[in-house]
Order: sequence, then structure tokens, then C-alpha cells
Amino acid sequence: MALFNKNKEKFSLNDIILPEHIGIIMDGNGRWAKKRGLPRTAGHTAGAQTFRRIARYCSDIGIKYLTVYAFSTENWKRPKEEVDAIMKLFKEYMIEAISDFQDDSIVVKFIGDRTVFPPDMLELIEKNEQDSKDRDGMVLNIAMNYGGRDEIVNAVKTIAQDVKDGKLDVSDINAQLISDSIYTKGQPDPDLIIRPSGEYRTSNFLLWQSAYSEYCIMDVLWPDFKSEHLDKALIEYAKRNRRFGGI
Ligand code: FPP
Repeated sequence: MALFNKNKEKFSLNDIILPEHIGIIMDGNGRWAKKRGLPRTAGHTAGAQTFRRIARYCSDIGIKYLTVYAFSTENWKRPKEEVDAIMKLFKEYMIEAISDFQDDSIVVKFIGDRTVFPPDMLELIEKNEQDSKDRDGMVLNIAMNYGGRDEIVNAVKTIAQDVKDGKLDVSDINAQLISDSIYTKGQPDPDLIIRPSGEYRTSNFLLWQSAYSEYCIMDVLWPDFKSEHLDKALIEYAKRNRRFGGI
């Protein structure tokens, strides 16, 4: 997409401040399928294709961290057929990412409670992480069986155990310690969170990390989301005045 500044002059993404970390809630797959008279699973298949394109685009334009919300701790409530279809898409993607990303710079990580996944999935998760860990490009966090509350509960348990074991004092507990006890340890908080499909909700996504994230709610369903939509969100983000509680 051609980008223009307020004087209607053409400019590139190099001319604006880009977020270091983007989070995306990949929402609207079901509605996209329904609009076309297709099963919801067709929406997820289309959504997985969008994910591939947008992850590549973010890496190409120099985004350092991208976190996508692929499956929440609450999504197990969906019909078995739909859950199975989403798990199949994850598996296909993980197999593909191992070979496709071989000459790539992308670092693949998974955030969420992975203990529930069967051994073959776990093996693919670990292989993707292991193979990509020394690369120097964009970190792609795929949130699978992820819940923001669950993440905070786990951090609290770990810290409480450390206090009980005498490894920590209650006075050592601060915001930094919590940031260091969650899945995104060592990563910057998301600067921008994009939610397509027009819903105004966080849906348990990066609750701790999003304290000062800028939200961009977009009226497009995830399977229809194009690089142009991302550009639009980036331009919107560049215009925001981030104060982090200051003035
Ligand atoms: C939310 O849309 C989407 C999901 C719960 C699943 C997201 C999964 C993918 C994009 C595919 C697989 C991903 C990878 C990483 C390969 P929704 O179903 O809630 O949509 P609706 O609100 O329109 O019903």
C-alpha cells in the first residue's frame, strides 16, 4: 500500500516509529466462514494462511517481536470437531516451519500451558524452539493454550514456592519479578495490540504485559486481514501519544 503523510507526500514505513512488539488477536475466523456458508473450520484454515503472510510481513518490515493469540485456555469449550481442526492446523504449521524456516532468521517460541499437548505436538513445539533459538531475527511467540490469568496464577505460585523455600523474601516481590516469572520473560511488553473483527475485548490476552499497550481495533475479519491493514495499524500507532501514566 502506498503510504501518505498529512501533506499527501508519499512516505515509507522507515519514516515512522514502528512498535518493537506487536500482539495480534486473530479473531473473526468463524464469522468469515459463516458469511460464506462454510464450516467454521474453513475460517480457521483461511486464518492460518493469513497468519503465515502477516508473520512474514512483520519480519520483513523489521518488527522485533510478534505475539499471536492462536488458542486460549478457554477455547477448549468449543465443539471437539473445531478444536481438532485447529490442532491439526498447528501441527501442519509446526512441521512446515521446521523446514521452511531453516534458512530464516525467525525465532519461534510457544507461550501457554504446553503440558496438555500430546507427545507428538510437544516434540514439534520443542524442535521448533530448539532449531530457531540462536537466530537473530524476529521473535514469533505463538500463544497456544494461553490465558493471561493462568499465566499470572502460575507466576504467583512459583514466587510463593520460592518464598516458602527461603529463596526469596516477600520484600523482593515487585513488578519486575513478575515480568521475569511469566512466559514472555526477557521480552519487551507489547507496544501495539491489534484486534481485527471489531470486538472491544482483551479476551485474556497478555494481561500483565499489556498494561500500557496501545490497542487498535479493526473492522476486518482475520482471514481478510492484509499487509495494508497492518500498515494502517502502524500509522495509527505512530500517531498515538504514549504517556505511560505521565503527562
Ligand atoms: C478466533 O476466531 C480464532 C481462533 C480461536 C483460532 C485461531 C487459529 C488460527 C488462526 C489458525 C491456526 C494458527 C496457527 C498458528 C497455525 P473465532 O473462531 O473466535 O471467530 P468468531 O469470533 O468469528 O467466531
